[in-house]
Amino acid sequence: MKLNAMLLALGAALSINAYAQAPIVIKFSHVVATDTPKGQAAERFKQLAEKATNGRVKVEVYPNSQLYKDKEELEALQLGAVQMLAPSLAKFGPLGVKEFEAFDLPYIFPSKTALYNVTEGEIGKSLLKKLEPKGITGLAFWDNGFKVMSANKPLHAVSDFKGLKMRIQSSKVLDAQMRALGANPQVLAFSEVYQALQTGVVDGTENPPSNMYTQKMHEVQKHVTVSNHGYLGYAVIVNKKFWDGLPADIRAALDKAMKDATTFEKAIAQRDNDMALDAIKKAGKTEIYTPSVKEQAEWRKALLPVQKDMEGRIGKDLISAINKEAAK
Ligand code: LMR
Repeated sequence: MKLNAMLLALGAALSINAYAQAPIVIKFSHVVATDTPKGQAAERFKQLAEKATNGRVKVEVYPNSQLYKDKEELEALQLGAVQMLAPSLAKFGPLGVKEFEAFDLPYIFPSKTALYNVTEGEIGKSLLKKLEPKGITGLAFWDNGFKVMSANKPLHAVSDFKGLKMRIQSSKVLDAQMRALGANPQVLAFSEVYQALQTGVVDGTENPPSNMYTQKMHEVQKHVTVSNHGYLGYAVIVNKKFWDGLPADIRAALDKAMKDATTFEKAIAQRDNDMALDAIKKAGKTEIYTPSVKEQAEWRKALLPVQKDMEGRIGKDLISAINKEAAK
């Protein structure tokens, strides 16, 4: 063989080899900081997945809306620009899967046990199934926690909300919730909240403490009320075409990695939120208030009707099925 031909053959062999060894890349985009329950679990999944597949899969995690903001990331997943996300359950409404907004209903989960009865049972499974016609496969539910309310004025009585502009996620249930308190809800992407609070575009917001603290929202919010009036959690989702196209052994390894990352996530979520609330307290810029029994009763009275009002949107059967599971 002439030298040129040999070099060509060698080059071709090398590139075929390089192609055969190129890892499968999973771009995992999310909007929160790395030191949140979701952020840490995404990193844990990366470690577990890369180890279990001996490097045949590479997971690239993009935190903090680095790649996409809330709405864009769902579009990017459907287009295949990223392969994995973990949006909060409040963000599936705009996709047309309104049933996920059931998780936003005020006081629907009296405890984490009640929540797990739903997410880990038949209801959780059937909700994830509803994503498939959208080209999305649901892999797991990840936890965050119960929400607190914040503003630059004390939020004790329901009347304290009157006229306040409150940032919400893109959920009609959250819209109804803020209106039931007399506030004016405003949908904003998570990445825009700090600045909106700082510049007075909105007066207040709600989130579990871990999100509030890691975005430094407490630096621009003088008052936090530990109301635990609602829940925030996630669904980990992948592009269905991508997922179905994976070699079966890889998919099985990733499934297992996801299962283990989920166990990890659930173990750290509450602890992280407790620590974040403590850190907000210690930062000394925000007054933390726990509502009295009487105030809590007043909040419930104002907010519980939202469950009934939203039956038309979410489905009466689903809401009562969740309430039944939650009461077990
Ligand atoms: C929010 O937008 O407030 C949250 O959904 C952010 C998140 O992903 O926890």
